[in-house]
Amino acid sequence: MNYNNSIQEFDRAKQSLPGGVNSPARAFRSVGGNPPFIAKAKGARMWDIDGNEYIDYVSSWGPMIVGHADDRVIAALKDAAQRGTSYGAPTVGETDMAEQIKKMKPSMEIVRMVNSGTEATMSALRLARGYTGRDKFIKFEGCYHGHADSFLIKAGSGAMTLGLPDSPGVTKGTAQDTLTAKYNDLDGVAALFEKHGNDIAAVILEPLAGNMGVIVPDKEFLEGLKGLTQKYGCLLIFDEVMTGFRLAKGGAQEYFGVTPDITCLGKIIGGGLPVGAYGASKEIMEKVAPTGPVYQAGTLSGNPLAMAAGLATLQIIDQTPDFHKNLEEKSARLEKGLQENLKQTGHKGVINRVGSMITLFFTELNQVKSYDDASESDTEKFGRYYRLMLEQGIYLPPSQFEAAFVVGCITNEEIDKTLDASLKALKQL
Ligand SMILES: Cc1ncc(COP(=O)(O)O)c(C=O)c1O
Repeated sequence: MNYNNSIQEFDRAKQSLPGGVNSPARAFRSVGGNPPFIAKAKGARMWDIDGNEYIDYVSSWGPMIVGHADDRVIAALKDAAQRGTSYGAPTVGETDMAEQIKKMKPSMEIVRMVNSGTEATMSALRLARGYTGRDKFIKFEGCYHGHADSFLIKAGSGAMTLGLPDSPGVTKGTAQDTLTAKYNDLDGVAALFEKHGNDIAAVILEPLAGNMGVIVPDKEFLEGLKGLTQKYGCLLIFDEVMTGFRLAKGGAQEYFGVTPDITCLGKIIGGGLPVGAYGASKEIMEKVAPTGPVYQAGTLSGNPLAMAAGLATLQIIDQTPDFHKNLEEKSARLEKGLQENLKQTGHKGVINRVGSMITLFFTELNQVKSYDDASESDTEKFGRYYRLMLEQGIYLPPSQFEAAFVVGCITNEEIDKTLDASLKALKQL
C-alpha cells in the first residue's frame, strides 16, 4: 500500500499538534509506522487520503456500532443542523434522549447529559462523594475511565499502551484518595474495605474491561462488588462508556445481571458526536444541581446535534429485530476463525470476547484475567501482526491493550476477508 499522503500529513500535523494527534493512541506509537489519515467511511469500511480501503474494527473506539454514515443517523443530523447547532436552552431532543436511555437501562431513572466519557465518570465520582460524604474510591488496575486526575492511577487504554499508567501532573493529594485493586480479585477489594471502609465513596469499574484488551469479569466478582458496596454503604459505579447498549440493549448490567447505583455512558449515545451521560435512581440524582448541591454544568451539554445522532443510533439498536443476536453471530464467526488461524499456524494466543468486543492477546498464558496477565503479552509481536493486517486493509485498534469492535452491518464476506488476512499475517510472523 502507498501511504505517501498520510506520511506528509502526519509530518505537517506534528508541527501543530502534540505528536501529530488529538488523542495519543491515534499516533500508532506502540505498533510503529505511520497512521493512515482517514478521508471517509461508510458501513464497516474506511478510506484514507491515499485511497486505501480498510475494514474497520476501531469503530471510532466504540461509537459506530451501526456502522459509519448510516443513512438514518445522517438524516437525523442534517435535520437537526438545519435548525441550528446549539442554543444553551432546553430542547425536546434532550428529554427524548433521556427517555430512550431509561427505557433501555431502567436503573438510570434520571439522566444528566455531558460531553464526553471523561466528564461522565468524573461527574459520577463527584456525585458519589457528595452523596456519601466520603473521599476515597476504588478503581481497578488497567481500567480506563477517561483522563480526569483521579482516574489516571494504574490506568488502561492509551496510558497503559504508552507505559504511562500514572500520569505526571496528578497531585499526591488527589492520588491518595484513589485506591486500586486487581480486576477479578474480590479478596483484594474486601481487604481495602476492611482498612478504609468508612472512607470509601464508591467502587468504579468497567463491568467488562475493554481498555487493557478485553477482560471478562467473573460473575462472582461483579456480584461480590455489589455486596461489598451495599455492606459498606457506598455506591457501585459501572462505567458503561464502552459496553452501554453494546453487550445488550441494557448494556453490561443487563448482560451480567448486576445493577449498579450509578451508570456512566458515552460513545454510542452520541452516534459519533462528542457526548457522555451519567444517571442513577431519582434519590441519588436529586443531589445534582439544580435540584441538589453537587455542582456540574456544561455549555454544550445535551447539544442538539449529539442528541439527534445519538437518539437515531439508539433507536436503530432498540428497533432492529435481533440486533444483538446478529452482532453475536458475526463476532462469534470472527472469534472461531481466529482460533482456527492460531491452531493452523501454531501461534500461541488467548482470544477474549464478549459480544462484539474482542481481543487477541499474543501470550504464552492460558487465560488473561487481569492487568498483570495482559501485561505479559508480546507487544512487539502484536505490532508486527498489526502492520501485516493493515497492509491487507484490516484496520485494528493500534494497541495490544484495546478492544476491537464488530459493527452490526459487517458482512460475512468482510469477516472472511479479515480471517484470510489474519491467516496470512500469522504465517508471516
Ligand atoms: C470505559 C471508558 N470510560 C471512559 C472513557 C472516556 O471517554 P472519552 O474518551 O469520551 O472522554 C473511555 C474512552 O475510551 C472508556 O473506554
